[in-house]
Amino acid sequence: MHNGSKSSATRVVILTADPAFEQFARETFGAAKAIDLAMIFGSVAEAGDTLSAEDAKVVIVDCDAARPDELGALARLTTRLGARPPVIAVTQVFDADVARALMQMRVADFLVKPMQAIDLVRACARAAKNADTAAASTDAQIYTFLPAVGGAGVTTLAVQTAMLLLNSGGTRAKPSTCLVDLDFQHGAVADYLDLEPRLNLAEIEPSPDRLDRQLLEVMLSHHSSGLAVVAAPNRPAEMRSFDHDVVTRLLDLVSSHFEYVVFDMPRTWFAWTDAVLLGSNKLYIVSETTVPGLRHAKQLVAAITERLEDGPKPEVIVNRFSQKMFSSGLRLADIQQTLGDAFVSAIPNDYALVREAIDRGVPLDEVKPGNAITTQLKKLVVDPMRTVEGKSVPLLKKLKLSFAS
Ligand SMILES: Nc1ncnc2c1ncn2[C@@H]1O[C@H](COP(=O)(O)OP(=O)(O)OP(=O)(O)O)[C@@H](O)[C@H]1O
Ligand SMILES: [Mg+2]
Repeated sequence: MHNGSKSSATRVVILTADPAFEQFARETFGAAKAIDLAMIFGSVAEAGDTLSAEDAKVVIVDCDAARPDELGALARLTTRLGARPPVIAVTQVFDADVARALMQMRVADFLVKPMQAIDLVRACARAAKNADTAAASTDAQIYTFLPAVGGAGVTTLAVQTAMLLLNSGGTRAKPSTCLVDLDFQHGAVADYLDLEPRLNLAEIEPSPDRLDRQLLEVMLSHHSSGLAVVAAPNRPAEMRSFDHDVVTRLLDLVSSHFEYVVFDMPRTWFAWTDAVLLGSNKLYIVSETTVPGLRHAKQLVAAITERLEDGPKPEVIVNRFSQKMFSSGLRLADIQQTLGDAFVSAIPNDYALVREAIDRGVPLDEVKPGNAITTQLKKLVVDPMRTVEGKSVPLLKKLKLSFAS
């Protein structure tokens, strides 16, 4: 039989070459049944590279910070382990240079010898908890839809994309997906899905810190499909813009709690717009099939590319495309020539279908399964995620984002 108590215990790995610290650590953790202590005697310079931290909840490394080779070995170890398990550094000497070196290594915490037992225990508990929280929060794939002109179909395409992502798991469980209407003034997402908008920005504004998972839950609307929606009631007469902090806090929260997030953006550029675009994995500019529409799209691509050097590459979706569009005479070749590489998809025109879906407050696929609009959109947003085995993989290397910064 396996040793059950051991396997359920919290494994703490300690690396030290100091007999006094070894003794102290044994006394501190030894009596605790919940702790499975793995003591490794040796210096980090000798043993750091081969240290096995498998199953460890926390790794404590006693390091002679006066020696560059010791600090170098600790840096290699933290790089090798990444964020998990967290590493707590213990040093004898401590000054500004040591602090700086440890910070750059992103150790979870550091303690100076001699220390109180309670401080060591607390540091371990805190590091373990923080690492768990970080792991529990997902790093969303973010799809942002930006209009080139009014009425181009941003809301329609954002809603459909969110539905496609929600159902992209095939037979597996639906990935958690959230559609966020950032068009606070003329938002239509809630209407298109026949939902009660529940986001109350005015309530959050006085203290953005209050906005946590629990408050977000209250402010989410839930569509019967399983889609979560963040939308505020429309205040057309209210010409106000919300505080940057409120919006970024909201974005930070949704992007850390959902696997997929879709943003429906307004046409006006706000203080928080850059942060949203920079944090996106996919950025789609939606245009209609008209000469002015394409011209605006092209200008927007240029402006965004220049403004957000490190951001995602803006891609243009031309909506309401019709091969037989004699009135404007725009053909696919014209669009390609105008937009070049930035052009990624032409979504067919089907007013009756879109109208019916909006009027009924349901996704397009519910009105007409396998319709041309959804099919085309799927090719763009869902199909590239699949590998040969049919496994879903992230499109781009995930951007580690912190909207709040
Ligand atoms: N592919 C399409 N074929 C036909 N009609 C469409 C298509 N996409 C959108 N529409 C119609 O275009 C209109 C505008 O769509 P939507 O509200 O999605 O645009 P928007 O860019 O969000 O507009 P706004 O600038 O008001 O936010 C709606 O009436 C919708 O029915
Ligand atoms: Mg809209």
